[in-house]
Amino acid sequence: MKAQPIKTDNKSISNKIFIRKEAIKNLTEVKVLDLFAGRNVLWNNIPTDKYFGIDIVENKGKNLNVDTRKAFDNLDLSQFNVIDCDSYGIAFDLYKKLFKRKDLNSGTIIIYTAITNEFTKLQNVAKKEFGLEKFYNKAPSLFNAKAIEFFYDFLSLNGIEKITFYAIRDKFDKHYGYFTIK
Ligand SMILES: C[S@@+](CC[C@H](N)C(=O)[O-])C[C@H]1O[C@@H](n2cnc3c(N)ncnc32)[C@H](O)[C@@H]1O
Repeated sequence: MKAQPIKTDNKSISNKIFIRKEAIKNLTEVKVLDLFAGRNVLWNNIPTDKYFGIDIVENKGKNLNVDTRKAFDNLDLSQFNVIDCDSYGIAFDLYKKLFKRKDLNSGTIIIYTAITNEFTKLQNVAKKEFGLEKFYNKAPSLFNAKAIEFFYDFLSLNGIEKITFYAIRDKFDKHYGYFTIK
């Protein structure tokens, strides 16, 4: 997999907006499904042709107020060409489902947030994917700290050959990036 890091030391929100503008710069139409939409801060700053946000917290932004994980199987992904997954942690469970979806159009851009440190728990989906179930509890911090590496391996195993991202290291390892569905 080719990784193209963008180095920058701006604050997170401006960096997150920057990477989204980069991700969509060649699209003629921008139709966004925002899976963790929050207060819509990021996409309020970027022109779109269509925008649909989801957030579990009521009245946070202009969103469908449901648990994305419960709604995901019923979303029509073919209506969108940008899927934003600005989740807390790393949503291995949703990416796993995403790669299996028949209604995901080729050329769709997936924008991700991947955040980890030694104390953030690796999702069970990832443990299973990498055969870590038996070993994880022996040294969880070791595996947690490597969650972003597991994430990129996971993308690679699912045929993603190129990602673009920038990384920030504070108390957490934070990667903000995007890739395109073939
Ligand atoms: C990093 S914030 C996203 C901020 C957003 N991009 C914005 O522009 O304001 C993550 C969001 O995910 C929401 N969230 C957490 N778990 C969720 C779930 N299971 N389903 C839907 N939203 C969820 C939180 O309420 C929070 O607003």
